[in-house]
Amino acid sequence: MKISPLYSLFLTVVSVLAIDLDTSSKSSICTATALIQQGISDYYEGDVYGGTVGMFVSPYYWWEAGLVFGGMIENWYLCQNTSYEDMLYDALMAQTGSDYDYMPSNQTMVEGNDDQGVWALTVMTAVERNFTNPKEDGTPGWLAMVQAVFNQMYSRWDSDHCNGGLRWQIFTWNSGYNYKNTISNGCLFQLAARLGRYTGNTTYLEVAEKVFDWLVDIDFVVMKEEANVFDGATIDDNCTSIVKYEWSYNHGVVLGGCAYMYNATNGSDVWQTRTEQILGGATSFFFEDDIMYESTCQASNKCNTDQRVFKAIFSRMLGYTSVLAPFTTDTITPLIDTSAAAAAKSCSGGTDGHTCGLNWFTGDWDGQYGLGEQACALEIINQLLVHDLPAPLTESTGGSSSGDASAGLNVSTTNVLQKNINITAGDKAGAGIITTIVLGVLVLGTVWMVL
Ligand SMILES: *[C@@H]1O[C@H](CO)[C@@H](O)[C@H](O)[C@H]1NC(C)=O
Ligand SMILES: *[C@@H]1O[C@H](CO)[C@@H](O)[C@H](O)[C@H]1NC(C)=O
Ligand SMILES: *[C@@H]1O[C@H](CO)[C@@H](O)[C@H](O)[C@H]1NC(C)=O
Ligand SMILES: *[C@@H]1O[C@H](CO)[C@@H](O)[C@H](O)[C@H]1NC(C)=O
Ligand SMILES: *[C@@H]1O[C@H](CO)[C@@H](O)[C@H](O)[C@H]1NC(C)=O
Ligand SMILES: *[C@@H]1O[C@H](CO)[C@@H](O)[C@H](O)[C@H]1NC(C)=O
Ligand SMILES: *[C@@H]1O[C@H](CO)[C@@H](O)[C@H](O)[C@H]1NC(C)=O
Ligand SMILES: *[C@@H]1O[C@H](CO)[C@@H](O)[C@H](O)[C@H]1NC(C)=O
Repeated sequence: MKISPLYSLFLTVVSVLAIDLDTSSKSSICTATALIQQGISDYYEGDVYGGTVGMFVSPYYWWEAGLVFGGMIENWYLCQNTSYEDMLYDALMAQTGSDYDYMPSNQTMVEGNDDQGVWALTVMTAVERNFTNPKEDGTPGWLAMVQAVFNQMYSRWDSDHCNGGLRWQIFTWNSGYNYKNTISNGCLFQLAARLGRYTGNTTYLEVAEKVFDWLVDIDFVVMKEEANVFDGATIDDNCTSIVKYEWSYNHGVVLGGCAYMYNATNGSDVWQTRTEQILGGATSFFFEDDIMYESTCQASNKCNTDQRVFKAIFSRMLGYTSVLAPFTTDTITPLIDTSAAAAAKSCSGGTDGHTCGLNWFTGDWDGQYGLGEQACALEIINQLLVHDLPAPLTESTGGSSSGDASAGLNVSTTNVLQKNINITAGDKAGAGIITTIVLGVLVLGTVWMVL
């Protein structure tokens, strides 16, 4: 077949645009991540007329936006590139909500503990990386916002079922209210560990210990050389029928929490063993030939929109762990190097020539694309730089965010519901609809319970 001159020109242009990553060169890494973030911006609504600041286009939910901004703040820090600083600042401020607790009124009716928790992990990154502090008068610091989320999540601790733990959902009308899961509790665990390390307030470390112990007691986390981290269980049978899917984000969030605890306890033996065992499970379940993959869905090509972004937060947690628990560095570095190189090779598709794929084993783009694919490639490649700059800060090593240990406590779950209905009351028809829906769901729920 004769290739037309135009097509061969096109091929040349595309191969120039494809990502060519030298894993040992900072400028190559930052050029690659800039291209990948350009792909992320294609899904961003906030700078499009009529779009919402801090949100990505459908089908990407609010929680995923929170997750993706975390990888971009890391890149802002690791590449010392301020191009997205204003965009990130505006996004974090737009979605914090009127009580500065990441329960914005657009989300509260459907928001789960995991959604609020993942956003708070990102805001904690802003704290630890000394991201631009809120400038407007009277606005609390990022640290106070994380403390607000921590306080609210912990206030939802439910000792009446399964001996403790958070439920997945915050509100009774959402399906999943009867499910207790690892990600919600893992976020609370990690937030507590990070707040404890950052502020030096040992109350947080005690809460972290309590949440971790619960995860182990209830068998969501099974400690052994290669620890299991399962998804969760419903309270209907006292959390005994465990859903045994293993996802990289669950392993990652628990692993990161252990590494922060190890660091905050000045290297305790207990947390060293826990970190080793969770890492043992994570490396055995989510890597093949040192290349990361979402083993539960990727091989069968069944990863849904949410699952496609899990490797992103898992990658970030491997990086933090490598830094905060230095005995893991030799294990983690080759996993990061090999996976980052493989991910970069997958970023060679689409009309821009550098769209990233889901599967990093093929040495090429696999034809899949989306916000999750972009974010995973960004975060694994970010990690190549994680040892080049200072570790996550604390109050005593130069962090400048202002905190408030009692933030968020004035807002109760009932108030949140009340406030939503009040907001809608301006528009009476809207209020009627919301009330009808809420009552309808409550009635249905009751009928269902009676049956
Ligand atoms: C910083 O980011 C911008 C936007 O992604 C990019 O155009 C620029 O090349 C980056 N600068 C460096 C030094 O990588
Ligand atoms: C809330 O939703 C409305 C309607 O879609 C939108 O205009 C507004 O920007 C959203 N606000 C936030 C903070 O997401
Ligand atoms: C429920 O499980 C917890 C923890 O496994 C146990 O302590 C408690 O006794 C159980 N409660 C019931 C009612 O079986
Ligand atoms: C430490 O954290 C706990 C839990 O949020 C809080 O009640 C307490 O006031 C904090 N102590 C200080 C000295 O900030
Ligand atoms: C860790 O070491 C620091 C500095 O020596 C000390 O102030 C702190 O109390 C120690 N923390 C723990 C949990 O042992
Ligand atoms: C905690 O993390 C810092 C930053 O990487 C590191 O220098 C320190 O050694 C860690 N602490 C322990 C006990 O490993
Ligand atoms: C953190 O930011 C503040 C305010 O911009 C600055 O004064 C401080 O030096 C920064 N700390 C570090 C460690 O960079
Ligand atoms: C909580 O309410 C108390 C009493 O009404 C008030 O003094 C305090 O400032 C409030 N805190 C926050 C964070 O809003």
